[in-house]
Amino acid sequence: MSVKVLFVCLGNICRSPTAEGIFKARLKEQGLQHAVLTDSAGTAGWHVDKAPDARAIAAAAERGIDISGLRARQVTGNDFSEFDYILAMDEANLVDLKSFQPDDFSGRCCLYLDFAVNAPECEVPDPYYGGAEGFAHVLDLVEQAATGLLADIQKNHLAEVDSGAVSTRI
Ligand code: 4NP
Repeated sequence: MSVKVLFVCLGNICRSPTAEGIFKARLKEQGLQHAVLTDSAGTAGWHVDKAPDARAIAAAAERGIDISGLRARQVTGNDFSEFDYILAMDEANLVDLKSFQPDDFSGRCCLYLDFAVNAPECEVPDPYYGGAEGFAHVLDLVEQAATGLLADIQKNHLAEVDSGAVSTRI
């Protein structure tokens, strides 16, 4: 069964589709695109069905990543039944997510930058009202977090695949 990761921000047109696009590319590089499935969503529904912001598309394209095909949707309570990791870009997103989190959720619902070792910040800042440099900064941060997230998934979900021995997982 695949591991499922949901990236969450406010509008689902800037940060979370960028985080998803970067992480998907990492998975592909590692040949893990079938083992780990991704999606992104917004806590707000203002931009449902829209493509990512043109500035986010352009910033990702500068690093060779195409996020233009992603479409925004809003988080639902059902996401806690579907996903193993629900990763908030900032504290406000996390507070909103926690209001949906059922008591029996056994996955991780936390800040995405919790996975970024030595990141200078805890939150991915909202670039919507700023310039291109804000979008480049988002990319720097989510690239760092992608490394830590991939390591966490490898350790906690894919270890038996790596070792080739299903029964060794404790
Ligand atoms: P995101 O950025 O949460 O990273 O997608 C935003 C997108 C849209 C708005 C705010 C933040 N907005 O106010 O419409």
